[in-house]
Amino acid sequence: MRRPSEQCSGGRRGNRKGVETRASKIFGILSKTLASDLAADLWPLTSVSAYSTLTSLQRKRYLFVCINRRAEENPKGCCAAKDSEEVYRALKGEVAARGLAKLEARVCTSSCLDQCATGVTVLVEPDHFFYGRVTVADVPEIVDGLVKGQPVKRLVVTAGSTQWS
Ligand code: FES
Repeated sequence: MRRPSEQCSGGRRGNRKGVETRASKIFGILSKTLASDLAADLWPLTSVSAYSTLTSLQRKRYLFVCINRRAEENPKGCCAAKDSEEVYRALKGEVAARGLAKLEARVCTSSCLDQCATGVTVLVEPDHFFYGRVTVADVPEIVDGLVKGQPVKRLVVTAGSTQWS
């Protein structure tokens, strides 16, 4: 079976020969055999999957804000019509302003999360719950909840609460 990096043609991830070449350049004073051994040791760190794991900044939490838009006459309605794009921008800005964007939380947009009746919808992962009826005014409290590791209970959509009053 081919290693992921063998499937790449060139590029910075290259193949083992490329790693050997780079090791030889970096450690020019080493013998070719030693450079080859060093390249073999580095191999796991230069494969595509390891490269991706080492360089990706996986956050503790991901907040998906639905920005789905439907035609005005559609009876399902949509989050975009309830200002979800403003909620998204406010949430992203607040997370960044509090220094949480690099490691703690990433705010992303989403298409319909099938919680339209209680939109604006925000899906929180990996906790796996929805916030519903979110407004820009709720954003500071939601980010406080991220810092404390506690959801804002009044905004959590629970089973049977799709028809909140
Ligand atoms: S349109 Fe946002 S959850 Fe369906």
